[in-house]
Amino acid sequence: MILLLVGPPGAGKGTQAKLLCERYGIPQISTGDMLRAAKRAGTLEKRYLDIMDSGGLLPDEAVIGLIARRTVEPDCGRGFLLDGFPRTVPQAEALDQLLASQGGRRIDAVIQLDVPRSLLEERLIHRRTDKGSGQIYHLVYNPPPPGAELEHRADDRPEAVGMRLDAYEAMTAALLPFYEEKKLLHRVDGVGKPEEVTQRVLSVLGRPSSGGE
Ligand code: AP5
Repeated sequence: MILLLVGPPGAGKGTQAKLLCERYGIPQISTGDMLRAAKRAGTLEKRYLDIMDSGGLLPDEAVIGLIARRTVEPDCGRGFLLDGFPRTVPQAEALDQLLASQGGRRIDAVIQLDVPRSLLEERLIHRRTDKGSGQIYHLVYNPPPPGAELEHRADDRPEAVGMRLDAYEAMTAALLPFYEEKKLLHRVDGVGKPEEVTQRVLSVLGRPSSGGE
């Protein structure tokens, strides 16, 4: 199964990705997580670091290479879930070519999480991530346990949040019609408890909401 999760920053892609990957037994591939791992390892080029921290999008070629290398790893044999990639039409076209070159693989579904902008800002500003496990928390809706070692993303500062939301609207707008034309796009309401959103995604995918695969 090859799934794509798209939606604005803070829509809950990372949160839903973890729940869906656990259910389907496929790996989550998040370009954002990969870039932050490279940042922590000190291997991310300074110019890319600056773009990320300010809330802009990296050039397409920087992320396409990451996906090309990651999707041929052994754990991707049964499929994978892409979280945060593609974000632009050139990235989507590159993904199609990449999958075709991997023995004619195809995307099963593209899930777009819809959340109003006012709620997105509120979610991002209160997000904290566990440094070790990567578990995502919200200081109000899903507070971290006492003593957790938390990270506050540089791009979750209010000034960067606005830029990320603008960048999403400007650069990703053309991506949705791209998948709509291919009849792959499913819009899902991303407001509500995370488990409720997961149920909506599962029903769109036509899978039973409980029980095994
Ligand atoms: P990336 O890491 O992909 O960030 P993003 O798309 O901005 O998405 P987020 O991780 O901010 O949000 P999310 O939708 O995963 O929400 P989450 O589940 O955490 O990218 C970061 C940067 O990397 C980009 O800005 C860019 O610079 C670069 N980059 C990455 N990919 C790229 C690409 N393809 N091309 C170019 N550049 C790229 O939830 C958010 C908060 O809400 C959390 O606190 C969570 O607890 C809470 N929450 C989630 N669901 C709910 C719910 N249902 N109810 C209440 N609260 C909820």
